[in-house]
Amino acid sequence: MSRSAHPAGPRHADVLPEGHYTAPPTDLNALDSKVWAQTVTRTTDGVVSVGGIDVKKLAEEFGTPAYFIDEADFRARARAWRTAFGDDADVFYAGKAFLSRAVVRWLHEEGLNLDVCSGGELTTALSAGMPADRIAFHGNNKSTEEITEAISRGVGRIVLDSFQEIVRVAHIAESLGRRQRVQIRVTVGVEAHTHEFIATAHEDQKFGIGLADGQAAEAVRRALALDGLELIGIHSHIGSQIFDMAGFEVAARRVVKLLAEIRDEHGVELPEIDLGGGLGIAYTSEDDPSEPHEIAKALHEIVTRECESAKLRTPRISVEPGRAIVGPTAFTLYEVGTIKPLDGLRTYVSVDGGMSDNIRTALYDAEYTVSLVSRVSDAEPMLVRVVGKHCESGDIVVRDAFLPADLAPGDLIAVPATGAYCRSMASNYNHALRPPVVAVRDGEARVIVRRETEEDLLRLDVG
Ligand code: LLP
Repeated sequence: MSRSAHPAGPRHADVLPEGHYTAPPTDLNALDSKVWAQTVTRTTDGVVSVGGIDVKKLAEEFGTPAYFIDEADFRARARAWRTAFGDDADVFYAGKAFLSRAVVRWLHEEGLNLDVCSGGELTTALSAGMPADRIAFHGNNKSTEEITEAISRGVGRIVLDSFQEIVRVAHIAESLGRRQRVQIRVTVGVEAHTHEFIATAHEDQKFGIGLADGQAAEAVRRALALDGLELIGIHSHIGSQIFDMAGFEVAARRVVKLLAEIRDEHGVELPEIDLGGGLGIAYTSEDDPSEPHEIAKALHEIVTRECESAKLRTPRISVEPGRAIVGPTAFTLYEVGTIKPLDGLRTYVSVDGGMSDNIRTALYDAEYTVSLVSRVSDAEPMLVRVVGKHCESGDIVVRDAFLPADLAPGDLIAVPATGAYCRSMASNYNHALRPPVVAVRDGEARVIVRRETEEDLLRLDVG
């Protein structure tokens, strides 16, 4: 995943190692709007602010490490997806990216639906007032309890992921006197260009039912034969952090082909298709994500075209963006601790969090940027690796980045684009206390997920 090596730089110029970086930015104080939330800006005194509040004040009030989410930006992105897809399509926000009750309320108010994949996510959604019929329930190994809860609460759809589940959901629905709306998740055989662990449409993995070998057609046969199920459509999710629309186009084409086969065999035209989530965001200035309206246009066009040629009514499309909505809206604020220059290599900057608040770098070799946010500096750039305080050498937050050479303990630095899959994948490794999520909007900051406390840790430890 290495980018080009740095050609020559102002500091350690002759000794810079190979790495995941390009040349140092010309202005280390500049904030690239591609990777920072919309209201993030540097105030005249050089401190970075979000939602009208500067990060020094935020750090004083809420401590570090902490995630700050730009509520206006979140709402704007949610709305942009909703508007782009229009009234004849549905946008389901993927709650796994980040879910809290405040977020559920924002989504509800902005007219989005919600995709959940566990009993915990379902409970959070329902407890914050998301109407059950606007919830889709996912997962490759849903428990009997989860299925029972989902059906009895009236979720809008369950996405079936295996042959056993087809029977299990039908059986539970019947025993509750219900007919559950379901989709069948198929694997369309697309190799998405992303990290292996977040690609989900090739055949050799745990999700979905294979299209190519006729298993999906067989799953449809079985689902249509069961009274407890109302089969409303086919679902495909090809992976995550994808920039190339080609994978979605192939997926759409194959799903529409299946719809045509279903029509030919059973005489039914399924009314819906879901093309999943997975649209990439900018983690660094190198990334160029598409806008929701471009994505909506491309997907509508391909589905309409394929349906016309198969003489099918165009089904209602749904999509499930998670990262693309919440990812860019938050940053993690850290306080700089020890600074260790390794001659000829790079400078290790330790922060007060680490892999317990952002596992993505260790897990997927993810790339992030970082900026000094508590002041400006005109010092020359220094190649750094931002690391956490955990007992692992792989505890890396930002593998390669440039910070000013006068960086000192006590400075605040921030990593942008940490809204998705950071708090939601946070852990208590080394009994770290998971950081709070603070929503900032129009000069007001409010905790939406509080910081964990040592009492929280001890409460679970009942031995
Ligand atoms: N729909 C389904 C069925 C999914 O499995 C996922 C993500 C999404 C939608 C939302 O995908 P998004 O738009 O957020 O990319 N932890 C990994 C990502 C795992 C994604 C799992 N499924 C990461 O941090 O990159």
